[in-house]
Amino acid sequence: MNEKRSSVHGEWSSGLIFILAATGSAVGLGNLWRFPYLVGENGGSAFVILYLACILLVGLPIIIGEVTIGRKGRRSPINSLRLIAREEGLNQKWALVGWMGVIAGFLILSFYSVVGGWSLYYGYEALIGGFAGMTSDSAEGMFNGLVSSPSAVLGWHTLFMLIVFGIVASGVKKGLQRAVTLLMPLLFILLVGLVVYGVTTEGFGDAMTFLATPDFSALDGDTVLAALGQAFFTLSLGMGAIMVYGAYLPQENSIPVSTGWIVGMDTLTALLAGFAIFPIVFTVGLEPGEGPGLVFQTLPIVFGEITFGALLGVVFFALLSVAAITSGMSLLEPAVAYLSESFGGGRVKAAAIISALIWLLGAACGLSMNAWSGFHLLPGMTIFNTIEFISSNILLPLGGLFVALFVGWKMRTTTVAAELDTHNHHNLFLLWLWVTRIVAPAAVLFIFLNATGLLSVITGE
Ligand code: TRP
Repeated sequence: MNEKRSSVHGEWSSGLIFILAATGSAVGLGNLWRFPYLVGENGGSAFVILYLACILLVGLPIIIGEVTIGRKGRRSPINSLRLIAREEGLNQKWALVGWMGVIAGFLILSFYSVVGGWSLYYGYEALIGGFAGMTSDSAEGMFNGLVSSPSAVLGWHTLFMLIVFGIVASGVKKGLQRAVTLLMPLLFILLVGLVVYGVTTEGFGDAMTFLATPDFSALDGDTVLAALGQAFFTLSLGMGAIMVYGAYLPQENSIPVSTGWIVGMDTLTALLAGFAIFPIVFTVGLEPGEGPGLVFQTLPIVFGEITFGALLGVVFFALLSVAAITSGMSLLEPAVAYLSESFGGGRVKAAAIISALIWLLGAACGLSMNAWSGFHLLPGMTIFNTIEFISSNILLPLGGLFVALFVGWKMRTTTVAAELDTHNHHNLFLLWLWVTRIVAPAAVLFIFLNATGLLSVITGE
């Protein structure tokens, strides 16, 4: 029953590479761009506490589940789910969870690529010395100038998508592996440097007050949903990205240990980003609730001011772009793996078709901030906001819920235990199993119903 398969797409050369690649997927714009602005918009540390609870009680158990499914199936998420369902005597419709993930990946990468394009643009501005003497007004002007220009947004979005396509199409795990190995530690060092700088600014005290005074009154169903959505988003969970990376994990490596590292590094990066950015926000007098432009309107001011700032600016935005690229790859991989597995025709063709479709949707996201800003899909939400909301706050948690139910209740416990290789840690296995069976699904359901108002309908209040 326990035959071991290998992946037709190849495998990582070691467990460490898996950790780096998956951390490369997890650490991205979600940590450095999305997390700080969500904290700013949603009551500061009250949001952080909820977010950490979601990571621990929902994210950690589900990431273990996703990698387990991936390595057991050794295929794209759609085909892994179908294969395991067949072997375990379950309904083949479980493959639909993989399809939902592919759709979520399409949606996320479309707006992700637009923001990845912003990062590239800022790298370019840093390179030509565009941050010199920057004030909060001119930083705002630079951001608005970019976002309101259809040609600039489309151009940088196209460049970002081309880079991601190029890497995924060539499937060069070697080049990719080496890049990740070199650049991830560098990103980390830079972030620590920024935190040290933040501590010395005059806004540090205000930032600490903001971060240490949880405003629980700012929390409501939507905030809790945003914290849950962010936990999924930042860990790349709920759409099969980590599952497909797990499919390439060598058999001898421990899933719980590897995923523990990934979750730890990702959480640390997000918190460091918060500590780096909020002191600057308060020093330059910006509002923490600034929204998606927050990071782009704060850091250039610093880089325009400090010694070696020009150089640091180039390095930082280059690394932000790299972090976005290594995440973007993992958003594309599940669909590309599926297409090339199921229809032959090769990886390049598969990657080209899917990238082109995502590019198109991304163009609509980019235009929704300027030429099409008057067009609303959901009330008060542009195309960009709608796609970000539906994918992160609805599709990802739903995908994660199904993953938890599948590994927790549907797969045979013996199959799961064998893949997790936990005979020496039986109690830990049982702890994981019951959190995955009960706590994680209950949390997702509760938060969902609460945010959509269905809970009050059900309880009649
Ligand atoms: N986790 C990445 C970030 O924080 C984004 C990402 C990559 C992602 N792959 C994903 C989000 C899969 C959701 C699902 O920037």
